[in-house]
Amino acid sequence: MKIGKAVFPVGGLGKRFFPITRAVPKEMLGIIDKPLIHYAFEEAVAAGVEEFIFVTRQGKNSIEDYFDYISSHSEYFNVKTGSVCYVRQNEPLGLGHAVLCAKNLIGKEPFAVISADDFMLHEKSCLGEMMERYEGANMVASVSVDRSEVNRYGILEIESETEDLIRAKSVCEKPSIEEAKSSSAIVGRYLLSHEIFDVLARLNPGVGGEIQLTDALSEMIPYCGLTGFKFKGKRFDCGSKEGLLAAILHVADRDEKLRCVAENFCRGKR
Ligand code: G1P
Repeated sequence: MKIGKAVFPVGGLGKRFFPITRAVPKEMLGIIDKPLIHYAFEEAVAAGVEEFIFVTRQGKNSIEDYFDYISSHSEYFNVKTGSVCYVRQNEPLGLGHAVLCAKNLIGKEPFAVISADDFMLHEKSCLGEMMERYEGANMVASVSVDRSEVNRYGILEIESETEDLIRAKSVCEKPSIEEAKSSSAIVGRYLLSHEIFDVLARLNPGVGGEIQLTDALSEMIPYCGLTGFKFKGKRFDCGSKEGLLAAILHVADRDEKLRCVAENFCRGKR
């Protein structure tokens, strides 16, 4: 199913990257010559998205400046059919709250949510692959993580699964290692029913005192289910320094000149 609108929650504080994120949005941190957010945008473009909704906040204006440039250049963007717009998230109340801020720009249609922190690379756009399989209701991208890391993610409980898809029995935001029902973690790609807005609007704060998107997904399972799409490409957690560095090295490795620099550096250290 084709989905035309994507929400990019870019209102996070980026605490793990202080002090740089005091002045530079974490989504604008560079993977060589493109900011992280550009990769998320490209993935959405490749999936056929035409309306790009950024949920932004104070101090994030450089994202708007950047997309002023991108959205007026046809090599990046279909300037005839595409549109970019911004809505503010005035308080850092979490991912669920950020998605709710986009409600009036979505209307009664399914929509995508993309977190730029999760840098995902595959021959095909992860979001595009999800759309090919989407049949309505809620779908999340998932990867298998190390058991010791389950407390950093939304974790699916598996009812049944195929090569590509998981039918979730339940989902839990950041469970302890003991509580986690599997090590299948949600990563930052979602295809959602507009009905999630009503659920988000009445949710109480969950883990970390934030309005959690996972809690809304959980509440909706009894009447519309939840599907996990098993992402098989490369994924970097660019919300962490280690993940960002790994992503930079991965991109460098695909460029002949940059690969030499990285290899020489590593050789010198041995
Ligand atoms: C968010 C979601 C979580 C998901 C993760 C993926 O957490 O709440 O369910 O697994 O993104 O990156 P955050 O990393 O914002 O704490």
